[in-house]
Amino acid sequence: MLVKVEELSKEVAGFNSSVAEEVEQFRIRLLGKKGEITALLKEFRNVPVEQKKEFGQKINILKNAALEKIEALKIKAEETSAANHGLDLSMPASPFELGGRHPLSVVRNEIISIFNRIGFAVSEGPEIEDDWHNFTALNFPEEHPARDMQDTFFIDPETALRTHTSSVQVRVMENSTPPIRTISPGRLFRNEAISARAHCIFHQVEGLYIDKDVSFSDLKQTLLYFAKEMFGEKTKIRLRPSYFPFTEPSAEVDVSCQLCNGKGCNVCKHTGFLEIMGCGMVDPNVLENAGIDSKVYSGFAFGMGIERITMLKYQVNDLRHFFENDLRFLKQFKTAY
Ligand code: DAH
Repeated sequence: MLVKVEELSKEVAGFNSSVAEEVEQFRIRLLGKKGEITALLKEFRNVPVEQKKEFGQKINILKNAALEKIEALKIKAEETSAANHGLDLSMPASPFELGGRHPLSVVRNEIISIFNRIGFAVSEGPEIEDDWHNFTALNFPEEHPARDMQDTFFIDPETALRTHTSSVQVRVMENSTPPIRTISPGRLFRNEAISARAHCIFHQVEGLYIDKDVSFSDLKQTLLYFAKEMFGEKTKIRLRPSYFPFTEPSAEVDVSCQLCNGKGCNVCKHTGFLEIMGCGMVDPNVLENAGIDSKVYSGFAFGMGIERITMLKYQVNDLRHFFENDLRFLKQFKTAY
């Protein structure tokens, strides 16, 4: 049998053809069901134990050599046949364009990824929202101007298009027990005239962290981490006291201006800082409204506009670009996210 292996090895080494059918015939003769190498492999079990090792190695070498040879000849045969038909397989393919993500999706995904890395999950809520989740549970007084017809698109007195993603906070708190770490990206609607700086449809990401002993310094550190990840390691943040019905205390968050590195320029109106979001410690009333014991738990929340972050990051100067789908604008945002 060793002699047969030798013979076949020589045959494999010497075989050459650029005709696909011939190569296939050769394959069938050696490696097909009734092929000669297949037969040898079957006979392996009859080989005396002391010869098994040597025979095994030789036949494996033979089999691999045959497979390699056939594979190489097949490729050669294909090329030859293509060349005969006037094709050059080494020519570059004709270019085709891949689409890109919308810049708002790019930035939303980046925000999600930044917060995922510190344990925040993603949650979502409905765009058509009831009064309770959009206003009442968030501690908006009955006569609060945000409930006014001028700001809100009402469907009926109890139902409206949500005016912020803070409504998702309430839904998450109602449906889970602390610790809660979540961000809620989404679309919202306000009855505003469309201009370079305002739109009736835009996007926010809401953040919520509820646990025992959550403090304002946790909030500050989380926001600093976010700002550095989003705008670069050198970014500074600044918190200014503010008011939101659902947080107490509340603050407005600024990041140092990317263009002038905080020195002051036209974009930051010579303040060195740009506002990026609102935040605060969740008001105990809101915790209680959503069924969380405010004596045991505390938490922070924040909300940022995705358009605003995108405009700052990519120096887009008109909000309307995001909704016009002009390819000359959209094509500039092909990235990994
Ligand atoms: N909902 C606010 C808005 O639409 C943004 C906001 C501010 C969300 C402070 C928060 C927060 O969670 O704590 O302007």
